[in-house]
Amino acid sequence: MNNEFNSKDAGLFTHAFNQNPYPAFQSLRQHDPVHQALMPDGHYAWIITRYEDAVAVLKDTRFIKDFTVFLNEAERAEAQKNIFSQNMLFADPPDHKRLRGLVQQAFTPKMIEELRGRITEIANELIDDMQGRSQIDIIDDFAFPLPIIVICEMLGVPSEDRDKFRTWSNTLVEASNDPGKAEKIQQHTEEFTSYLREWIATRREHPEDDMVSKLIQAEEAGDRLSEQELYGVVSLLIIAGHETTVNLISNGLFALMTHPEQMRTLRQQPGLIRPAIEEMLRFEGPVEFSTDRWAAETVEIQGKTIQKGDHVLVALDAANRDPEAFEDPDVFDITRGQSKHLAFGKGMHFCLGAPLARVETEVAVNTLLERFPELQLDTSSAELEWRPGILMRGLTELPVRLA
Ligand code: HEM
Repeated sequence: MNNEFNSKDAGLFTHAFNQNPYPAFQSLRQHDPVHQALMPDGHYAWIITRYEDAVAVLKDTRFIKDFTVFLNEAERAEAQKNIFSQNMLFADPPDHKRLRGLVQQAFTPKMIEELRGRITEIANELIDDMQGRSQIDIIDDFAFPLPIIVICEMLGVPSEDRDKFRTWSNTLVEASNDPGKAEKIQQHTEEFTSYLREWIATRREHPEDDMVSKLIQAEEAGDRLSEQELYGVVSLLIIAGHETTVNLISNGLFALMTHPEQMRTLRQQPGLIRPAIEEMLRFEGPVEFSTDRWAAETVEIQGKTIQKGDHVLVALDAANRDPEAFEDPDVFDITRGQSKHLAFGKGMHFCLGAPLARVETEVAVNTLLERFPELQLDTSSAELEWRPGILMRGLTELPVRLA
């Protein structure tokens, strides 16, 4: 255990860190780029902050996702009862490929491009609902409902239930590192699970032309998907669809509104929207830390020995501000062009939903800027609160003036 630079020195996991993690990330990249940190739940994890190491770890198959291999049979059976663990994000080869393969086809750039028209319709409908208002919360009124409606329509789940999904998925994501919330997590996990069971049972009886009906068919057809995995895939897509794009749209608009010269450039050259979105992903990526990885064997990185069974996290938002990888990394510049950011991860777990998130954000930002030429922040940046928890980076609310 390395004592020369402890997590307190690094300023990790405090409220100040939550509000602005970049000074701590810079300090770690410089002084202790492979840092063994005491996590909020009391266990230790290695935190990787340099770009080059981040890429290496994300691609290295010695860092595995399925921690149950370290458990005995009884513990494993208990852990596998949690339906959220039975999905591609927590699977290693060969299960990973099988699980990802079942839904990959629905997420190719070509398939997603076909949804652009419907996504534009949804964005316009949400804006129509703002009629007569001069002030809105970008998150509640726009950035949150848009991706939810889209993923619910793709899967075939009733989007009227979106407030329930929001409560459940927020608890699961925000509380993943907070032992104080164990009871709430358990309660919301149970509610989410029984909702999915009932709803999947209904779809089994009455299949439709949606992704869930196709997954049910795959499960019924034989050994490609177990029932637990069916719940796992569906819940992963619901959670990913709820927790991520909302933050890309809102973090991105926040960056534009707090960098008026960049906002002007984008308004004058709307063709820059794609590089602008890549810059939003790099500058304030919605997924702050990768999901958990575990060393399957002893691995040396930057002179540190990571032991078999150790927990490893890649700080994606730290790697995306590494001056060795990006010139002037703390500058928000939508004209950077090609970007090698890690906001969607790297390697075999590279984000399946990236094409969808990109199109949703492109449509959302374009439509909002087009319809509100005077859009601006309705508070000072210092007043805004960032969400707790280390997995996601996003604001709790983003008040704006429309005109
Ligand atoms: C801006 C929005 C998004 C960001 C920044 C993002 C980011 C990420 C990242 C970093 C990973 C890899 C995590 C790791 O390796 O530990 C990931 C995986 C994944 N994402 Fe996304 N995501 C976004 C949107 C979405 C959406 C909209 C969906 C689908 C509805 C989605 C579905 C997935 C899935 C299924 C995986 C697991 C892939 C695998 O394990 O092979 N994501 N995402």
